[in-house]
Amino acid sequence: MPAKSSTDPRAAAVEVLLAVLGRGRSLDRALAEHAPMDADGRDVGLCRAIAYGVLRHHRRLGAIRDRFLRTRLRDRDQDMALLLEIGFFQLVAMDVPAHAAVSETVAVARQRGKPWAAKLINAVLRRFQRDGDGCLAAVDADPAQRDSVPDWLLNRLRADWPAQWPELLAAQNDRAPMTLRVNQRRVSLTDYQHRLAAAGIAAAPLPGFDAALVLQTPVNVEALPGFDAGDCSVQDAVAQLAAPLLDAADHHRVLDACAAPGGKSAHLLERSRPSLLALDSDAARLQRVSETLDRLGLEGECRAADATLADQWWDGRPFDRILIDAPCSGTGVIRRHPDIKWLRRDADIARLADEQRRLLEALWPLLAVGGRLVYCTCSIIRAENESVVAAFVGDHADDVRAIPPGLSVGQSTGYGQQILTGEAGVDGFYYACLEKR
Ligand SMILES: C[S@@+](CC[C@H](N)C(=O)[O-])C[C@H]1O[C@@H](n2cnc3c(N)ncnc32)[C@H](O)[C@@H]1O
Repeated sequence: MPAKSSTDPRAAAVEVLLAVLGRGRSLDRALAEHAPMDADGRDVGLCRAIAYGVLRHHRRLGAIRDRFLRTRLRDRDQDMALLLEIGFFQLVAMDVPAHAAVSETVAVARQRGKPWAAKLINAVLRRFQRDGDGCLAAVDADPAQRDSVPDWLLNRLRADWPAQWPELLAAQNDRAPMTLRVNQRRVSLTDYQHRLAAAGIAAAPLPGFDAALVLQTPVNVEALPGFDAGDCSVQDAVAQLAAPLLDAADHHRVLDACAAPGGKSAHLLERSRPSLLALDSDAARLQRVSETLDRLGLEGECRAADATLADQWWDGRPFDRILIDAPCSGTGVIRRHPDIKWLRRDADIARLADEQRRLLEALWPLLAVGGRLVYCTCSIIRAENESVVAAFVGDHADDVRAIPPGLSVGQSTGYGQQILTGEAGVDGFYYACLEKR
């Protein structure tokens, strides 16, 4: 076995993929554990690019592999199965010279003590170079393989978005842009755009999003002018719609019930100065909310608690505004987290919908009459979005009034508005806005 911190990007990518696909780790965590940290920047980048790419196209690459192998590799040779996917990915989608892609990939099999596999991988990748086109055409005839999506998710997206699903599947495999939220309490959008340009970072505003700048090329946050001083944050534009929709004023009491890591809490405090309680049931994640507020020079109370157990944390005074950015499948952000496709299961959806409904039921009594609750998720599955809200509104017809969110992107789904991944270049998201009569 290679050392844990292998500096060989392909060897490290095998470890990352084994951690995600074999042991169910998130991609972020697997990269933190296995990507070469002390190598030069290019190597780190290559491991990351391979890991993202293989996870985006895992089903397609696996289908190609299965067409070239007469028998399935044994479970204990899962590393070699993934190494073949790494080889195909480089040949199909990466700007790596083919001879280097093949020889470096084969070398990893040898390093891992599997010379038999080195021979096999060499032969298969060379055959793919010669006769791959027919194989690709056959594999891509099946949309589940072409767009690398698990059957359960394909079935849900087809049922939920009969007209849009093909585009949606393709958009999930695109690279997401890096988008900033400019802290307009400190600097205007135009001034910050100029400061970025002076630092050699090209960025453009996004119509309909008053604080967003989309970078032409992602950069490390350390390169962003004034980042440490709180001039900007990294946040997809669609997530920047929560704070304006919540419309909190200085005199309001606001609850952000599922706050970590704190992007939306911070945004709403950049826009006005309400008294904010930021809750999250995950104490470690909540720490990031405090850090974010500190960096941005904002003030709010952070508390680790289960939002559904109000008797453990609520002081009995109603909130004027409540944000429920509910735990969800994350299917709207697959382009940023392609591991979601392989880590989520269909059975998760019903469990998440129950949790989402429990949050709504538990927090609605805490809202003041005339107050507003924004429910949102980064999911594109109706069962977590419109279905949850419609059932809730149906059961509380006496005091719930759904307000059309009136967002500049997305489509009305009845009570709420759904933005599908890639629409206007943003992530997939759902918003509903409920007022108490
Ligand atoms: C989608 S994330 C929130 C993202 C956050 N609003 C932001 O903009 O940075 C959902 C969060 O809900 C938290 N959570 C899940 N169940 C919860 C509960 N019952 N009470 C409080 N927080 C919960 C999770 O720990 C997770 O941090």
